[in-house]
Amino acid sequence: MSSIFEITHKDAAGRIGKLRTPHGTVETPTVMPVINPNLQVIKPSEMRDFGAQMLITNSYIISRRDKLREKALKDGLHSLLDFDGPIMTDSGSFQLSVYGDIEVTNEQIIEFQKTIGSDVGVPLDIPTPPDVPRSRAESEMETTIERLIEARSMVNDEMLLAGPVQGSTYTDLREKCASTISEHKFDVYPLGAVVPLMESYRYAELVDVIVSSKKGLDPTVPVHLFGAGHPMMFALAVALGCDLFDSAAYALYAKDRRYITSKGTYHIDNLSYLPCSCPICVSHTAEEVKKADNCSDLLARHNLYVTFEEIRLIKQSIKEGNLLELVEMRCRSHPRMLEALKRMYSYSDWIEKYDPASKSTFFYCGPESSQRPEVLRFSKRLERFTIKGTAVIRPFSMRTYPESDNDLMFKPPFGTFPAELSEVYPFNAEVIEDTDIESLGKALENTIRLIELNPDAEFTFIKGKELEHPLFEKLEKIADVKE
Ligand code: GUN
Ligand code: ZN
Repeated sequence: MSSIFEITHKDAAGRIGKLRTPHGTVETPTVMPVINPNLQVIKPSEMRDFGAQMLITNSYIISRRDKLREKALKDGLHSLLDFDGPIMTDSGSFQLSVYGDIEVTNEQIIEFQKTIGSDVGVPLDIPTPPDVPRSRAESEMETTIERLIEARSMVNDEMLLAGPVQGSTYTDLREKCASTISEHKFDVYPLGAVVPLMESYRYAELVDVIVSSKKGLDPTVPVHLFGAGHPMMFALAVALGCDLFDSAAYALYAKDRRYITSKGTYHIDNLSYLPCSCPICVSHTAEEVKKADNCSDLLARHNLYVTFEEIRLIKQSIKEGNLLELVEMRCRSHPRMLEALKRMYSYSDWIEKYDPASKSTFFYCGPESSQRPEVLRFSKRLERFTIKGTAVIRPFSMRTYPESDNDLMFKPPFGTFPAELSEVYPFNAEVIEDTDIESLGKALENTIRLIELNPDAEFTFIKGKELEHPLFEKLEKIADVKE
């Protein structure tokens, strides 16, 4: 049997993949628009026009409404929503987390999802919020795992089954939950209870949750970031290995008169111009949208257009191998996102394991780029260079080189490497000439290591221009440093 998820392209820990479901194959990363069965802002049958390949709805809401339940049981979920592509159904866990109690068991809701013909079903997991006492996070995780195992025993090939990872903000519990449920072979792994983190802009902790959960999962399984619908954070989440998102945001934000962009959100009443070229924004002025009777419908449509625009840009970036450049750009739109970027690069050692060995030219986009996995990979491989005799390290901008046994080049943030590699990835990087302290520091660290690894060689370091860094003091002890 061919596997349910096939990865076709990779960049950082992100990937483009194909997810096979009973109602067809979708290309990931993708967003599933959330369909509220009671209140359809945009009809499911229209969703493909925006770029949606797959939808998500709530089986608990369907099961609680006589009219919806009866139609779903009689004609099936796809007929109820009038959509013939893949549909994922949530279980009512979210209602459980909001209202504390719901009138359905895990067994009943799994059976219901199977009967109505869902493509991906979700057990009744417990979304444990952030910051709860560890004992609560542990015991709710145990209950979640029991319910997941029960659900697994009830589902065969009729639908795919999701195994949500819980564990609150305890990274060790997230990893343990992920590795425990992995033994039971779910088809999709949603990372649960992250909505409160996103609502309070705790993106750095979101990075911790994603990475710790991913560490417990097999890297080849599809991962869904539950409740993530703002395009500003898609690139970051994709780079960490998330494949599926779901967006209620397009409709919820629209109801609050909010206009989504990939760099953040505007209140429509504060907009004098519409900074977007979707069909809504090119056919209306900001004033027209504000005054329109169907303002929230117009905003929902715009919000959905920009959501899928970002997904296409992310996929293109993965193919080109410049996803991290996109992440760095997106993470500069809010200080909390910048914190998330820094947190992400604190995991560069982990990302490096998945990042392709060769891709498009590395673009230095700011001090954080010095911590990129490609730079770390170079540090790990310094042992591979053996240098004997005399060696001159010249700045990468210096065209001529003095006589020596080894012509070496110094290029921040990487450091020192044989000059003949200067046009080879990653040393062909586009970097800034006036290097910053972070980049220079990383390059000097790597240079010092290289010199220490080759104690018999005789090194001369040509500065080329005024450079200041505390590490020069150390360098001067092991090499002849010239201006
Ligand atoms: N929707 C948002 N978060 C969650 C979660 O943790 N579990 C489920 N089942 N649905 C969600
Ligand atoms: Zn628009």
